[in-house]
Amino acid sequence: MAAALRRAGNPGRSGHILSIRSARDLFTARERLGELFGCADSSRFVFTGNATAALNQAIKGVVRPGDHVVATSMEHNSVMRPLRRMEEAGVRVTIVPAGKDGVMNPRSMIAAFRKGTRMVAMTHASNVSGVLQPIEPVVAEAVKRGILTLVDAAQTAGSVPIDLRALPVDLLAASGHKGLLGPQGTGFLYVRDGVRITPLIEGGTGSRSESDHQPEFFPDALESGTQNSVGIAGLSVSLGWILARGVEAIRRKETGLVAMLLEGMARIPGVVLFGPPDASCRVSVISFLVEGMDPSEVARRLEKGSGILVRAGLHCSPNGHRTLGTFPTGTVRVSPGPFTTRGDLSMFLSALRRIRGATR
Ligand SMILES: Cc1ncc(COP(=O)(O)O)c(C=O)c1O
Repeated sequence: MAAALRRAGNPGRSGHILSIRSARDLFTARERLGELFGCADSSRFVFTGNATAALNQAIKGVVRPGDHVVATSMEHNSVMRPLRRMEEAGVRVTIVPAGKDGVMNPRSMIAAFRKGTRMVAMTHASNVSGVLQPIEPVVAEAVKRGILTLVDAAQTAGSVPIDLRALPVDLLAASGHKGLLGPQGTGFLYVRDGVRITPLIEGGTGSRSESDHQPEFFPDALESGTQNSVGIAGLSVSLGWILARGVEAIRRKETGLVAMLLEGMARIPGVVLFGPPDASCRVSVISFLVEGMDPSEVARRLEKGSGILVRAGLHCSPNGHRTLGTFPTGTVRVSPGPFTTRGDLSMFLSALRRIRGATR
């Protein structure tokens, strides 16, 4: 990223060497996204500033007044809030409750489809419960009925294998800074060829500059204005690392870490765990409470006492917490990544035992 910053030309805006180098960085990152998600046409991946921008573009660019949208009760506010805004404009929204463990029921989702259903929006994995949702049957049924599918892969991109040839979703959104290990200020939206979508932002693309109409070809249709070429250069490097390592290997490692945490945490009396007990049905996010202690106090003690950084509260998903029964206090969330070691987790478990001991 430092090198990209030093030679930051505006990609696609000029024929000089710096502009061409930046454009190459963007192209490489896009190609790597295509390779990672099994899509030969990388132009269908549009860079955004984060998953929220991608999700807003997907929802507001496709859904129209009078349309009906189905979503799960485990959605992040980056899906819920745009949907609530669209409701004010005459869109009908059905939120299908997930079970107490946060697992959505594909049959209930499909039962909510009706005439006029335009889109089904699902988080691939909940950032609250860590549940990896069984989205496949819902996607298959939606495809059969011509309903557009939007998958929020913020918690799975780079951590769980996703192959767009096998999972025919129409719109896939993710952050660059989570499982894709890139810098903040990056994200993407994948739009399947043939999906009609209106850009939320229009302007200069460096292409078709003779026209005062937005180009319709991808990625330019949805990529106006100067891109975060420095951030995307960083994302390109992390994507290269993930491709070399393999998402399957990352998934195996994270599942092993989650299993160790679930087992160790379940043995500490007074620690309450949320979500399914089986690590293979989860991503690397574990929500918990320590009985008798506010989540923010647990987080503060983990940081002050052991230098362990976690997030406490509602995690931008009030509906997710209502589903788990942890609203409005929220939970503490611990999230090991591909660089976390078993030693790190032993240290975390000891810290948690000490905190629990202090409440008795
Ligand atoms: C499931 C889920 N969706 C969307 C988002 C929003 O991501 P971003 O902060 O990149 O906009 C998050 C972030 O925590 C998330 O966990």
